[in-house]
Amino acid sequence: MRLEYKTALITGAAQGIGKEIARTFTREGAFVYVADINEKLTGETVAEIQAAGGKAAAVKLNVTQEKDWVTLIEKIEKEGNTFDILVNNAGITKRQPFTELPVEEWDQIMAINTRGPFLGIKHVIPVMRRNGGGSIVNMSSICGLVGHKFSGESYIASKGAVTLMTKAVAVKYAKDQIRCNSVHPSTADTAIMRDLFKDPVKRQERIDEIPLGRMAKTTEIANAVLFLASDEASFITGVALPVDGGLTAY
Ligand SMILES: NC(=O)c1ccc[n+]([C@@H]2O[C@H](COP(=O)([O-])OP(=O)(O)OC[C@H]3O[C@@H](n4cnc5c(N)ncnc54)[C@H](O)[C@@H]3O)[C@@H](O)[C@H]2O)c1
Repeated sequence: MRLEYKTALITGAAQGIGKEIARTFTREGAFVYVADINEKLTGETVAEIQAAGGKAAAVKLNVTQEKDWVTLIEKIEKEGNTFDILVNNAGITKRQPFTELPVEEWDQIMAINTRGPFLGIKHVIPVMRRNGGGSIVNMSSICGLVGHKFSGESYIASKGAVTLMTKAVAVKYAKDQIRCNSVHPSTADTAIMRDLFKDPVKRQERIDEIPLGRMAKTTEIANAVLFLASDEASFITGVALPVDGGLTAY
């Protein structure tokens, strides 16, 4: 198994892509802390993973709150556990153009999509240092690579910050044997897209822009995260890996 004896913390793992990553990691032998703000769905996800024979625990975490990160890491270390892998996956989107975006909504998306990964990295790095290394995977988007015409500028700005935060962390903490990479999906059919997909024209637009002619399966994104998180990627750090069916290739 590719993650045997590893412990991972995955944020935003109650549903969607994060849940698929949690399933994939536990199938590969990892113990996974399934962290999310949505306690009910987190509990259901953990129950599902355990029923399938996986090892996982539910933790309530609002990624924007530093005290939540501190409490969580103290609790996990008290339990005698540690982290080999952090996946900063929690995220939201905003579809309004800048000209219609209230400042409070800008602050909210930046808090979840950008402050969240910053806080995770800030508090997990000391733990990984004590362990002699680790792997961090940040969930960005194609919107962290290009100025995608169908997405809100605030989402693009927040994911662009994740892309370069990843490279900065990779360079800074390489000496501690901590790797940091980002994954950049194009559209996948999850809760974050449900409002948009009520409009069949907008849904089709998202498919038509992808050279492979379909959306990403959550398993395809989870497999890329698995590779970067695992020791198979032991010489890979600072990489921005598109999982986008070719969307950013043209
Ligand atoms: N689905 C796509 O098309 C797509 C494409 C590119 C990138 N992404 C990125 O993938 C990640 C996962 O998205 P998804 O598609 O699974 O969406 P989703 O809405 O299904 O899941 C997001 C999860 O994040 C959690 N979350 C939100 N705010 C939080 C907070 N403050 N603290 C902790 N958890 C919080 C939610 O409760 C939810 O469980 C996001 O970062 C998103 O931007 C998604």
